[in-house]
Amino acid sequence: MGKEQFYQDVINGLCSRQKYLLSKYFYDAEGDLLFQKIMGCEDYYPTRCEMEILTEQTQNIVCSVLGRDEKVDILELGPGDATKSIHLIRKMDQHGELGSYIPIDISPHIIKLLKEKFQKEFPHLSFYGISGEYFNELPNAISHSENRKVILLLGGNACNYQPETTLNMLKKLNGIMKKGDMALIGFDLKKDPRIIRAAYFDRDGFTSRFNLNLLSRINRELGGDFVIENFTHYACYDPQTGACKSFLISESDQEVFIRDERISFGKGEPVFMEISQKYDLHTIAHIAEESGFVQKDVFTDRKNYFSDVLWQKA
Ligand code: TRP
Repeated sequence: MGKEQFYQDVINGLCSRQKYLLSKYFYDAEGDLLFQKIMGCEDYYPTRCEMEILTEQTQNIVCSVLGRDEKVDILELGPGDATKSIHLIRKMDQHGELGSYIPIDISPHIIKLLKEKFQKEFPHLSFYGISGEYFNELPNAISHSENRKVILLLGGNACNYQPETTLNMLKKLNGIMKKGDMALIGFDLKKDPRIIRAAYFDRDGFTSRFNLNLLSRINRELGGDFVIENFTHYACYDPQTGACKSFLISESDQEVFIRDERISFGKGEPVFMEISQKYDLHTIAHIAEESGFVQKDVFTDRKNYFSDVLWQKA
């Protein structure tokens, strides 16, 4: 991602009537580290819950995925370090039914690390890593082989948008897939609103540092002069709509320069940072239908906090 694009996106966001920054810019080296800390902290439950599903129900998931006696390719969107998907990959590999593993990630660095990791553990497996944006690269990835595809969209990948946007994205995904292809998609579930809010406003302060790091990144890379202490992280969850939103709040009337651009903030003014939408199982089944899929299976953790749903293109 070019620096000019980053600059333009930041200026567009901060000059809007309702200020915002784009969450794709969270993940620089420092942001990656802080997100690791978030995932490990007690208040942030999604990673642990999804990990429980993928480690304790591996056999069931793989049985649902594998139909007849045929090879299947796993195509993973936003794999991270693949610590979740590796459980499915191992199991399918043991069954001798895995063709290729095809990760797509915006970061070439991630793809390079995955390649090394896979060459060590699965030297016999075909690895085809792609760095780029999901929808630009998907057609190419799907036509990589004739094998049936299972697309993994785990973690927050499907939930970090307004529900209409997620629905459109899933329709688009369906349009690119071939009949019989499947998708395993993570959806965080509605639950006690206090538990959700705490996950995005953790006691250890990692989420706060993660959000503020984007201001530091603007200072570092775009020559901004944000005084970081003048902003605080705020998160709220609306149990009716299921929207969990993160903001940075300006603590005073202040002006910030980014290169020649002057931006004023009022005391108490929010900068919208990110949405993490929570769903219920009924709505998820409805979304499957709306976007052209048949829901084959639903896997949840023991507390019913998180779900991975298996859909097939009809
Ligand atoms: N988007 C991910 C999620 O919904 C990661 C995340 C956790 C996050 N906390 C955050 C992103 C706070 C932005 C702000 O779980």
